[in-house]
Amino acid sequence: MVRDTEKVARLRADTPACEDVVHFDNAGSALPPRPVVERVVRHLRREEEVGGYRAAEEVEEELADGYAALARLVGADPAEIAITDSATRSWVSVFTAVSWREGDRVLTAAPEYSSNLIAMLAMAESRGVRVDRVPSTVDGDVDVDALSAMLDDRVRMVAITHAPTNGGLVQPVDRIGAVLADHPALLLVDGCQSIGQIPVDLDAIGADAISATGRKYLRAPRGTGFLAVRRRALDDLVPAHVDLDSAWLEGGRVRLRNDARRFELFERNVAAVLGLGAAARYYLDVGPQWVHDYVTGLAEHLREELTELPGVEVTDLGSRRSGIVSFRTFDLSARDVVPRLRERGFHVTVSRAASTPWDMGDRDLDELVRASVHYYNTPDEVARFCAAVASLR
Ligand SMILES: Cc1ncc(COP(=O)(O)O)c(C=O)c1O
Repeated sequence: MVRDTEKVARLRADTPACEDVVHFDNAGSALPPRPVVERVVRHLRREEEVGGYRAAEEVEEELADGYAALARLVGADPAEIAITDSATRSWVSVFTAVSWREGDRVLTAAPEYSSNLIAMLAMAESRGVRVDRVPSTVDGDVDVDALSAMLDDRVRMVAITHAPTNGGLVQPVDRIGAVLADHPALLLVDGCQSIGQIPVDLDAIGADAISATGRKYLRAPRGTGFLAVRRRALDDLVPAHVDLDSAWLEGGRVRLRNDARRFELFERNVAAVLGLGAAARYYLDVGPQWVHDYVTGLAEHLREELTELPGVEVTDLGSRRSGIVSFRTFDLSARDVVPRLRERGFHVTVSRAASTPWDMGDRDLDELVRASVHYYNTPDEVARFCAAVASLR
């Protein structure tokens, strides 16, 4: 496991709540670092003084820099970035921008996030699109060979969640991208849980679009998200909602912006958007590869320690793992465990079947305890957490 105590101490000093709580809910909503919070508050104060429009004009350069930072984060061009208010908004914006016709197919996998599944199945109901599920390997990864065999000329999209919400699995998105290299289907990756903990490079993955949220591993304010869409995919994507910022009228005809900001609307929480930019820069400064190595090392350590506890079963799948650790205890339900741990200062959540209905249904799981670690967590916190879990019995 990576031990870089000085660096972690510095990062914890930027995260004042680390003194009071053990925050293992980074897959829910992480603790934002002080520079992010301060940036948001400073802008709100400026809005108080001069009003929102003038305050926004004053930070135009910084806002542009935020797009550049998000672009660097995923290996895209700033013109390929749209800022949104959530991962779901980002994902649904791309999904519904496809001109779906009856008989078109979308391929997805067992641990797909429920909101994405709902959008796909709603499209199946309204337009006769076929949603086909790619089988998983024994490790729980999407079976890339099976996916390859399922491709035909009706498949218009492959939608894969990079790191599912309910456990440590990391999908082999780069191998999926390689299989799709010579196929016209769009690869839409849900990066909601991966952005901010796993280095992402859209070229290396071969993805056409990736959706992300701010508040999780990226440590940005709530109500922020973003979307990266490759230029090659943009022309065929017509957003369901546009306004005078993403489109204009020319000779009575609607023209769309030719960059990813065709997916944005004019109105936004500028303070939060500045916070998102600050969070992206903070993450890039901390170092995406270091973050990944630290987070996966600490999560693996947590799995090993939990596995040692009698009556506890770690339920994570995947040949490659993220910072999300899921487990159950045999004598208590997750709904009982989570509040009792919270009372003792350990922030964890319940992961319910409703969030990942296919995967949890396959495994006959109703709910799990989810403990998701970040780089401001430590092996000492893991030890204290495991002692607290053991004491619940
Ligand atoms: C994998 C995954 N995708 C999408 C979402 C939805 O994110 P948001 O609430 O920002 O729309 C979540 C939220 O937990 C998630 O875990």
